[in-house]
Amino acid sequence: MTRTIFSGIQPSGQITLGNYLGALKQFVALQPQVSDSSTDQAYYCIVDLHAITVPQDPRELRERILDLASLYLAVGLDPKRSTLFVQSDVSAHSELGWILQCVAHMGELSRMTQYKEKSEGKESILTGLFTYPALMAADILLYQTSLVPVGDDQKQHLELTRDLADRFNMRFGETFTVPEVLTLKQGARIMSLDDPTKKMSKSNPNPQSRVELLDSPDEIRKKFSRAVTDSDRAVRFDPAGKAAVSNLLVIYSLTTGQTIDDICTAYDGKGYGDFKKGLAEAVVSHLQPIQARYRDIRSSGEVERVLHEGSLRAATVAERTMKRVRERVGLGSGSRG
Ligand code: TYM
Repeated sequence: MTRTIFSGIQPSGQITLGNYLGALKQFVALQPQVSDSSTDQAYYCIVDLHAITVPQDPRELRERILDLASLYLAVGLDPKRSTLFVQSDVSAHSELGWILQCVAHMGELSRMTQYKEKSEGKESILTGLFTYPALMAADILLYQTSLVPVGDDQKQHLELTRDLADRFNMRFGETFTVPEVLTLKQGARIMSLDDPTKKMSKSNPNPQSRVELLDSPDEIRKKFSRAVTDSDRAVRFDPAGKAAVSNLLVIYSLTTGQTIDDICTAYDGKGYGDFKKGLAEAVVSHLQPIQARYRDIRSSGEVERVLHEGSLRAATVAERTMKRVRERVGLGSGSRG
């Protein structure tokens, strides 16, 4: 069966180890093979329109878009196998986003936990932050996506996307594929280094709470050495009783490919100091080649070309869906052909 994969990341801060282990690493693994006869398609987007739901500095935003695109390439996304593009370069995203705002209800949007968290305690909230999930649904539905690899925090948005697709199909006739969500069993929710009850996030005001993909080896070592643990000394996997240590074990396992059991055995009786040092070295050696490739790519000018080609490919597919949507909804004069 042919699969169409779509996912996106906001260029709203420095990409974290959480984004990498929960999402980016999956994107790479899911890329269609060029050599086989698979007709799978993969679209990986830089969702800049989502980033402006909170204020952004225009110059910084443009730089971050190119930084993130370079990182996409550096972690192993191959533009021959995946379509890489920037959301605002394909105007169909805004158009379908609006139409889906006219399918979504205030009640369901106000139940979104991401909206509740980001708006909590704020006096002035931008309308776009509230309608954000309708735009996210548009991103996915434009490509007739069957599979969306994301971290745990996006599951609720995916449920809403499925509801909107169903509702639209019922009201206007079969138009959209209803997508499935894909999350990892382990790594779908990497937690903060300073507080294992909060997810690691690029928008946390405390930089010690996260490892960023472009952190220097010394920064990474420092951050892990300060990571909270507990008063016990045992390196043991117990998410309920030892949340902080268990989170570090998941990071260790995902960056080395070793099982959690093997890691626990290796550090049996050794205490947290050795464990954190080993973890830091594992992450440093995993990230170093990615960082080296990133530096080469970012300075090469290759990124702009890849994004331009990606946007042309994406726009062709998106326009096919939009034509059908306009017809079904009864929009326009019909003179566009
Ligand atoms: P964003 O930019 O916040 O995060 C990008 C991806 O990283 C995952 N992620 C994590 N995974 C594991 N542990 C963590 N601590 C962690 N933090 C973040 C996120 O789940 C996500 O997969 N709304 C989306 C962007 C978006 C999108 C889309 C995604 C817009 N349109 C269409 C998929 C399909 C977001 O804010 O992701």
